[in-house]
Amino acid sequence: MSSHTKVIIAGCGIAGPVLAVYLKNLGYAPIVYERLDGLTTSGVSLCLQPNGLHVLSKLTGLVESLEGGPVARLLYHSALPEDEGLLSETDLPTKLKKTYGFGMLGVERATFHRQLVEYAEKQGVQIVWGHQVVGVEQDDDSVTVKFHNGKTDTGSFLAGCDGLHSNTRISLFGKEEATFTGLVQVGGLSPTPTTGNFDHHALINVYGNGKHFITYPVNETQNSWAATLQEPEAKESWKHIEHDAQEKFKNNSDFSSWGAGVGELVHHAERVTKYGLYDRPELQQWHMGRVVLLGDAAHPTSPHIGQGANQAFEDIALLTSLLQKHNPDAKSPPTDILTTIFTEYERTRIPRTAALVEEARKQGELRVVSGVAACKERNDSYREIHRQEETIMKRYAGLALS
Ligand SMILES: Cc1cc2nc3c(=O)[nH]c(=O)nc-3n(C[C@H](O)[C@H](O)[C@H](O)COP(=O)(O)OP(=O)(O)OC[C@H]3O[C@@H](n4cnc5c(N)ncnc54)[C@H](O)[C@@H]3O)c2cc1C
Ligand SMILES: *[C@@H]1O[C@H](CO)[C@@H](O)[C@H](O)[C@H]1NC(C)=O
Ligand SMILES: *[C@@H]1O[C@H](CO)[C@@H](O)[C@H](O)[C@H]1NC(C)=O
Ligand SMILES: *[C@@H]1O[C@H](CO)[C@@H](O)[C@H](O)[C@H]1NC(C)=O
Repeated sequence: MSSHTKVIIAGCGIAGPVLAVYLKNLGYAPIVYERLDGLTTSGVSLCLQPNGLHVLSKLTGLVESLEGGPVARLLYHSALPEDEGLLSETDLPTKLKKTYGFGMLGVERATFHRQLVEYAEKQGVQIVWGHQVVGVEQDDDSVTVKFHNGKTDTGSFLAGCDGLHSNTRISLFGKEEATFTGLVQVGGLSPTPTTGNFDHHALINVYGNGKHFITYPVNETQNSWAATLQEPEAKESWKHIEHDAQEKFKNNSDFSSWGAGVGELVHHAERVTKYGLYDRPELQQWHMGRVVLLGDAAHPTSPHIGQGANQAFEDIALLTSLLQKHNPDAKSPPTDILTTIFTEYERTRIPRTAALVEEARKQGELRVVSGVAACKERNDSYREIHRQEETIMKRYAGLALS
């Protein structure tokens, strides 16, 4: 059944290993090349939504095996001294689960990444670490990839899953800087607070003057959290910050005195990461010849609506279903067939992801508004959050469930 059509995947982050298993299930022979030498503990967490979980659920046994923290409710708190307390509460994730079969699941990024990599390897996917793609060349029936270490490999086509700083993207469309959104996040993992009626099954948003804090569970005993602040440009990086800066943030940041569990989460953080938030203007095209982009390489976003990884999974579902439709025997497709597939893929995906990138940016700006008038307006909009439920439901449902 296997056609041995070799497909090269650049990047073994979140999208790479999942795309590889989907391709393998269609009869292709994927090989994944990753810049890093192996798994890392970098990063904080991701929130898997119904659309993303739906795509993962097609991979037998994967979703059931994921370590995560199920989210049943969304809570919105104000931490303003003039107006402290709960703004609103919704059981939207529970409704989503009832409607679509999938709700929301918080996962630690490093644990989730490890589980995806182990799953792909168990399905026989070959992953090659320590290979940074630095160049791409193509002709009528193949693509050759050059690596930083001087090696090369040739396959039928190439999927660029190499993230925010994608060299695959640069090789197609040239270098262009990511756009700093003006916001940075400080994030970490902490034991779930055990005091003050802390709701372990909620995704909790807490709003202050010019600041926002979010937390959700990543397993039985841990919560991840992230504080959004306005700051001069911070180089985007998922590394942990230095010990002294961590201690200072834990003991002396404004967040240490916030209620709703925030102070406790910050104070007991096990590791603290700081990163700038970036996105990019939308591309008009995500492919050229036999090369196509997916995930952050195609549409990096700021994280405020939690759709980054979920949109990467939607990319995978559509791209592979088009491959199945237009190239059912999984032989090496001629370039005109690939052009049909990649063009159809873009036609659906570019408008959808562009709208979500813009929406995430808007949410980010709303999260850090300062001044009484703006905060009041924001408070009120969250008091009325239930009016937006239908819009939010549709956003999370997306292509994969429609
Ligand atoms: C270490 C790390 C930690 C992260 N932590 C978080 C987090 O806590 N919260 C959050 O919201 N998002 C995080 N992200 C981003 C998040 O994973 C993505 O936004 C999203 O899941 C989409 O996945 P992706 O596969 O497109 O991109 P990514 O998950 O970023 O994966 C891209 C992969 O490609 C590799 N790569 C890059 N360049 C090359 C190259 N030239 N050749 C070969 N491989 C290459 C990278 O090392 C990476 O493994 C993190 C990303 C990384 C790399
Ligand atoms: C929860 O996650 C943390 C961080 O990854 C880990 O150290 C801990 O062992 C996990 N606990 C459980 C009960 O799985
Ligand atoms: C922060 O607080 C902890 C204990 O609560 C203390 O051990 C540590 O020295 C403090 N660090 C700083 C930089 O204040
Ligand atoms: C909302 O936030 C503002 C800004 O601090 C605050 O003064 C106000 O009391 C809050 N509540 C309402 C109902 O606007």
